[in-house]
Amino acid sequence: MKERYLDIMLKEYAASDMYPFHMPGHKRQPMDLGEGERLDITEIHGFDNLHHAQGILREAQERTARMARADASFYLVNGSTSGILSAVSAQTKRGGRILAARNCHKAVYHSIFLQELKARYLYPMSTEFGIQGSISPEEVEKKLEEYPDAETVLITSPTYDGVVSDIRAISRAVHARDKVLIVDGAHGAHFGFSKGFPQAALEMGADIVIESLHKTLPSFTQTAVLHIKGERVNTEELRRYLGIFQTSSPSYLFMAGMDRCSRVLEKQGGELFERFEERLDRFYDRAKNLKCLHVLDRAGEERDPGIYMRDRSKILISGSQAGISGQELMDILRRDYHLELEMASGHYATALTSICDTEEGFRRLIRGLEDLDGKLSSRSRVQRNHGVSDSRLYSPVRRRMELRDAALAEKETVRLADSAGMISGEFLYLYPPGIPFVVPGEEIPQELPEQILRLKRLGYDIQGPEDYTLEGIKVVL
Ligand SMILES: Cc1ncc(COP(=O)(O)O)c(C=O)c1O
Repeated sequence: MKERYLDIMLKEYAASDMYPFHMPGHKRQPMDLGEGERLDITEIHGFDNLHHAQGILREAQERTARMARADASFYLVNGSTSGILSAVSAQTKRGGRILAARNCHKAVYHSIFLQELKARYLYPMSTEFGIQGSISPEEVEKKLEEYPDAETVLITSPTYDGVVSDIRAISRAVHARDKVLIVDGAHGAHFGFSKGFPQAALEMGADIVIESLHKTLPSFTQTAVLHIKGERVNTEELRRYLGIFQTSSPSYLFMAGMDRCSRVLEKQGGELFERFEERLDRFYDRAKNLKCLHVLDRAGEERDPGIYMRDRSKILISGSQAGISGQELMDILRRDYHLELEMASGHYATALTSICDTEEGFRRLIRGLEDLDGKLSSRSRVQRNHGVSDSRLYSPVRRRMELRDAALAEKETVRLADSAGMISGEFLYLYPPGIPFVVPGEEIPQELPEQILRLKRLGYDIQGPEDYTLEGIKVVL
C-alpha cells in the first residue's frame, strides 16, 4: 500500500474545492497569525505561564472575561473536554451525586468515572423533528426533589443540534437549593455577540460555562474557554484541576489565536454577525421551497414544543421524506457537490456555519440542496424507513450498577447481537455526537443491539466497545 503522510494529506485537502460545513469555526480562512512555526512557543522568558498567569496571559484572559461579563475566564488548550473534567471535579465530592443531562458529551461521563459519581440523568424532551429536545425546568425540579443530595447539575446547551434549554429557569431552580449549575456550552461560544442568537448561558444565571471557541468561532482546534460567575464556584479547586487536566506546555499559537478571536469580536463582531445572520436568513428562506429534503426551520421552537429555543447556525437537513438516511445525504453532498458536512445522525445531516462562512459557501450549499432535491423529487419517492429512530435509541435505560463499578468490574465478551438484557461493561455511542445509548452499568435494552448493527450497516461510526468491529461487547459477569 502506498505510504500516506498526514501533512501531505492536509495540504491536498486544503487545496481542494471541498467546502467545510464543519468545525473549526474559522472555516480555513486566514487568521492573520503568519507562519505557524514562527509563533509556536510555549512558556519562555518574557511570556506568561498559563497555570499561574501574571502577565500577558492574565491580561488576555481578563479581556475575555470582560467581554463575557464573567468574574473570571480561563483559557483551555485541551478543548472543552479539559474544562468539563475540571469543573465537575471541582464541584463534586468523590463518590458524590450529580444530575447530568443524559444527552451530554462523553467528557461528562469520563468525569463521572474519575470522580466515582452516582449520576442520575435529566432526560431531554422529545421533538417532532426527531432530535433530542431541551431539558425542561420541570425535569430539573423533579430530579432535584428526588435527589436532594446532588451537589451539581450539568446541562448541555446548545446541543450539537442547536437545541437550547431555558437556562434562566433552570438556574433559578438549581440556586433555590443552593446547588451549582454547570453548562456545557461547547457549541455556543458565538452566543452573546448579537441579538440574532440566544443569550449566553452565563448571562442567564449559570455558575460555570464551558465553550469551545474552535467549534463556532475563528479559533484553532482545541481552543476553548471556561467562564465563572458568582459565589458558588469553588475557584481554588477549579484552578487545581485545570492544572491537572491541561498540558504543561500550552501552545502560544493557540492562545494568541484565542486572544485574536476576542479582539476581532470586540472590534468587528457587530458587523460580522449582521452579515452572517443575513446569509442565514436568505438560506432558510430558500430552503423552505425544497420539496423532499427538509431543513429544520431557523427557530425550531415555533413548531416544536420540545425545543425551547434554537441556534440557527446549525443547519439540520432531513432526508427522511426523500427516503435517504442522514449518512447517505452527507455522502452524496460530499461526492457530488464537494460539500463536507459536520455529521450525520439517523435521518438528518448537520451543516455547521459561522461568521467565517462566505457568501459563496452558502450559495453552494443551497444550490447543492436544490439540485439534489430536484433529482430526488423526480425519482419515484419511496418513503424508506431505515428502522432507526433517535427517540428509541436514546430512550431511558435501566441502571443496574453505578458507572465506575461496572467499568472496573470483571467482564466477559459476548456477541453484541446476543447482549440484550445484560449489564453493559462498555459505552455504546455514535460519534459524533458522542452521546451514549448505553453506559457501563446499564441494562442493554432489547431493541438496541439490532438498531446498533443496523446503524453500522448504514455506515455510521459506532464507538465505545473495545471491539471496533462491533462483533462483541463486554458485559459485567
Ligand atoms: C456537547 C459537547 N461538549 C463537549 C465537547 C468536547 O469539546 P472539545 O472537542 O472542545 O474538547 C463536545 C465535542 O464535540 C461536545 O459536542
